[in-house]
Amino acid sequence: MAAVPDSVPAVADGLRAVGYLPADSTALVAYLAYKLGKPILVEGPAGVGKTELAKALAKALERRLVRLQCYEGLDEAKALYEWNYRKQLLRIQAEGQGAGWDDVQDDIFGEEFLLSRPLMDAITSEQPIVLLIDEIDKTDQEFEAMLLELLSDFQISIPELGRVEARTRPVVLLTSNNSRELTEALKRRCLYLWLDYPTLEHELEIVRLHVPELDRTVARKLVEVIGMVRELDLKKPPSIAESIDWARALLLLGARDVDADLFRETLSIIVKHRTDLDVVAERVGVRLDPAAGVAGQTQT
Ligand SMILES: Nc1ncnc2c1ncn2[C@@H]1O[C@H](COP(=O)(O)OP(=O)(O)O)[C@@H](O)[C@H]1O
Ligand SMILES: [Mg+2]
Repeated sequence: MAAVPDSVPAVADGLRAVGYLPADSTALVAYLAYKLGKPILVEGPAGVGKTELAKALAKALERRLVRLQCYEGLDEAKALYEWNYRKQLLRIQAEGQGAGWDDVQDDIFGEEFLLSRPLMDAITSEQPIVLLIDEIDKTDQEFEAMLLELLSDFQISIPELGRVEARTRPVVLLTSNNSRELTEALKRRCLYLWLDYPTLEHELEIVRLHVPELDRTVARKLVEVIGMVRELDLKKPPSIAESIDWARALLLLGARDVDADLFRETLSIIVKHRTDLDVVAERVGVRLDPAAGVAGQTQT
């Protein structure tokens, strides 16, 4: 895509060109976010292309990707900035007896003693960037609140240094696996994109993009079977990531069909919970048996 996309199809083409096949709503929301300067909150189950969307947007826009991976207990010091205490101490010691406190103080609270974390890095970047705040649902509400301020004004205040304002407008994506409800305040500031498991045709296209050597009919059967597995009530249904892994495995094994035996042998690639394995082997494995007819033709 041109560095400045000027339509929804241009965004879609740009993403495709870097290996991301967007759903219609994805290209639309990305375009609007870019034009309106609003962050995108991307929510959905694990493995449906949330993180990848940010990476693809960065590539398509030819911008650097700054990534903040969230986790439980993440705080400002790790996300924004912290003072480099060790360096400050060394500086004070090196100063010796001679210098007055005022001189040293001015010195040790300068930029040189600041450890810049991803959000600070994003704000101070000279070039426009894409900022990915990944898995925001893993943090707590306090962290969300801190983020709000930053996202609305794109500036931060460091008590000892003053205000730092963004030099450019980043494209911001926040992702969430939906493990907890995010605050209304955060949602209000963002455009919302719900990414779900793709349609059969869309997933086939994605699988074929990642594993082009896999036989077309095998690939189709694979996404059909994946679709069946997702219909079951599982702890963790297989995502696009698992479909791609499975496609790679089938290619390696030289599969010409996904029959009941091959399915049972490779099942652990797409289902990774003990109890899920049993359910899937029983419900889907049976349907792949020749006696039960071809997958996709049988109905439950
Ligand atoms: N629309 C898509 N086009 C191409 N590849 C995709 C798409 N959606 C997902 N993928 C692939 O699926 C895998 C999982 O995506 P990822 O972004 O890590 O999931 P999430 O962040 O939602 O958990 C990645 O390998 C990615 O390349
Ligand atoms: Mg992710």
